[in-house]
Amino acid sequence: MLAVQFDRFGPPDVLEIGVAPDPHPGRGQVRIRVKAAGVSPVDLALRAGESPGSKNLVLPHIPGVDAAGVVDEVGPGVVDVSAGDEVFGTVALAGLGGATAEYAILDFWGRKPERMPWHEAGGAGSGVETATRALDLLDVRDGMTLLVHGAAGGVGSVVVQLAAARGARVLGAARVESHPFLESLGVRPVSLEDVSQSVDRALDVAGAGVLDDLIKITGSVDDVVTLADFEGPSKGVRLSMGRPAGQVDGRHGLVDVAALVERGLFRVPVREVFPPHNAAAAHALAARSPRQGKVIIEGIRPSLGANPESG
Ligand SMILES: NC(=O)c1ccc[n+]([C@@H]2O[C@H](COP(=O)([O-])OP(=O)(O)OC[C@H]3O[C@@H](n4cnc5c(N)ncnc54)[C@H](OP(=O)(O)O)[C@@H]3O)[C@@H](O)[C@H]2O)c1
Repeated sequence: MLAVQFDRFGPPDVLEIGVAPDPHPGRGQVRIRVKAAGVSPVDLALRAGESPGSKNLVLPHIPGVDAAGVVDEVGPGVVDVSAGDEVFGTVALAGLGGATAEYAILDFWGRKPERMPWHEAGGAGSGVETATRALDLLDVRDGMTLLVHGAAGGVGSVVVQLAAARGARVLGAARVESHPFLESLGVRPVSLEDVSQSVDRALDVAGAGVLDDLIKITGSVDDVVTLADFEGPSKGVRLSMGRPAGQVDGRHGLVDVAALVERGLFRVPVREVFPPHNAAAAHALAARSPRQGKVIIEGIRPSLGANPESG
């Protein structure tokens, strides 16, 4: 098959389209023909050789942890979907990559709602799982006020909508340029310095060294969770990590979010969509502020020229 991949660590232009072995699903997995894949911070860090996971990669490596597409092969034990079904979810390979290719192996998926565009579905998987996990950990419920720092990014823009769907009042902290974007998601934008209302829970998505502020605003270390600040545990703040630590079921939230999409209560904000031969530009944009929603790479069509059955 064809894949966007890199055979050395470096800047975005190390990404190129090449031939990779066709993957096949193992037990509990499905193979999809990829329609769209999301770009995530972990993809950028792995490509640059700056992630702790970089040293474990076998090169060439295919980036991308989120994908949506049409099931074309199911592994043993899979009973909920079959060939031809449209799904979205997260790729196997311990959360390290594999999405930006003609075919990808998913280990967690939900059925793609009919009204969810492929580009949105491709960027949804890990954001939905992460957001659901964090909101559960904080026990965010109807009537509470939740403050989210890093609210406009890929995960933040999902968190704020899922919290609102639970009935929470959501305050979104982000740079001023992103305030109109947050308002478009129905979120009240704030700056951390100006939070005057009472806040029940706070979630740090940006990992920008604001945990002391969040503890002060909520009044309790127990009401704060971080997804990105490794100083958290030393301050008594819970740091929630998903795969590859394998602490959670990656299906978490995918089914619920599909129901919200059907009711018009959730969307994945898409910042820009790139064709696969422009994957380098996609990675470059994903690293640039202000980040608002997801950068998406479209699936590779075999008409690009190489033999799709090769490998
Ligand atoms: N623990 C987990 O399970 C888990 C899962 C997924 C992701 N993550 C981590 O969570 C973080 C966010 O992921 P993402 O996909 O949402 O990334 P993203 O799309 O790149 O968004 C990052 C967000 O954080 C904001 N931000 C970054 N530095 C900031 C700073 N110094 N001050 C204020 N805001 C800042 C960005 O704002 P600007 O663009 O305006 O600067 C942007 O809104 C990443 O570190 C990622 O690795 C953790």
